[in-house]
Amino acid sequence: MHCFRKVTEDLYWVGGNDRRLELFENIFPLTKGVSYNSYLLLDEKTVLFDAVDQAMGRQFLENIKAVLDGRTLDYLVVNHMEPDHCAMVEDLTLRYPDMKIIGNAKTFPMISQFFDFNLEDRTLTVKEGDTFSSGKHTFHFVMAPMVHWPEAMMTYDETDKLLFSADAFGTFGALNGNIFNDEMDFDRDWLDEARRYYTNIVGKYGMQVQNVLKKAAGFDINILCPLHGPIWRTDLDYIIGKYNIWSKYEPEEKGVMIAYASMYGNTENMAEILAASLAEAGVKNIRMHNISKTHVSELISDSFKYSHIVLAAPTYNNGIYPLMENYLEDMKALGLQNRTVAILGNGTWAPQSSKLMAAKVGEMKNMCLLEISVTIKSALKNSQREEVESLGRQIAKEVL
Ligand code: FEO
Repeated sequence: MHCFRKVTEDLYWVGGNDRRLELFENIFPLTKGVSYNSYLLLDEKTVLFDAVDQAMGRQFLENIKAVLDGRTLDYLVVNHMEPDHCAMVEDLTLRYPDMKIIGNAKTFPMISQFFDFNLEDRTLTVKEGDTFSSGKHTFHFVMAPMVHWPEAMMTYDETDKLLFSADAFGTFGALNGNIFNDEMDFDRDWLDEARRYYTNIVGKYGMQVQNVLKKAAGFDINILCPLHGPIWRTDLDYIIGKYNIWSKYEPEEKGVMIAYASMYGNTENMAEILAASLAEAGVKNIRMHNISKTHVSELISDSFKYSHIVLAAPTYNNGIYPLMENYLEDMKALGLQNRTVAILGNGTWAPQSSKLMAAKVGEMKNMCLLEISVTIKSALKNSQREEVESLGRQIAKEVL
């Protein structure tokens, strides 16, 4: 049975919510599910903006049919060709044989890569600055390359001052009936998932996001319609501000994230003592992660959030403890910058992890590595306790 909601007088949310999928992109855990947003406009022509993942296909087709209420679908705008939004494109062509597809020069080759249906006489290719009218509504097409695929674009409806923003301003998390930001407490219930989504999916493309934000500033926008998560119709500056901070790789908060790996609890003990010394020095914003029990996407999210990062790990096979190495490789791949990093290392016979973690951090841009790092052999002893506490005081001084 159909389940849709009205966005404006003639625009409908016809997407779906997936609370069954374990891993988004088969990588990222979805503890709160995910929404795939699609929007259907009933103007003189009917226009669908993006589609959904195949898991939501049946619900989606029922929603469209119900909203169309006997009309046909004239146009599909493909802002983004990733399969979580385009899996149903071929099904739509079968149901609505006269439907035209609007995309850019990079969209259609991708459609042909993913599907085998004939695109002839079905395409309308647009480029930056082109406009299209469906009757009452006039649309402008804004290219958004590498946010986060090369073909990504956004569509601005000048009539309703509404931006279909593709993945930008999206978040993990299924919608719970409420689809608008003013129907929920976003800061309390959604921000962490929004950050985890942005930093892991789009984090690498900060410069491209900055370019899109500059373009978007040229439009008068009242409503943001992303492909995942809530629709923004109030307080747009809040989410745009978050994107601005994240894409400039600026810390969102002054605070310390301690990411530790520990095989038998000794490196963990050193991390705990450091955390206690930070607290003694007055730091309130401290976040500790046992990286063996925290998905790397959460580590990345908090790495983008906090100004200071402490890495603590033992040596393993003469290298860095594997989960720490994986986290650091991910941090580097996603281009994290502008953080202050401190290091705690351990090793029983040939401690290498401090030196190797420092080298990895050195491969990243604009990272400030604190000169003091602490390396222990097996377990922290009284003789080195002051080194750990002194590092804590130094970090605290910076944070405060
Ligand atoms: Fe939600 Fe890039 O797809």
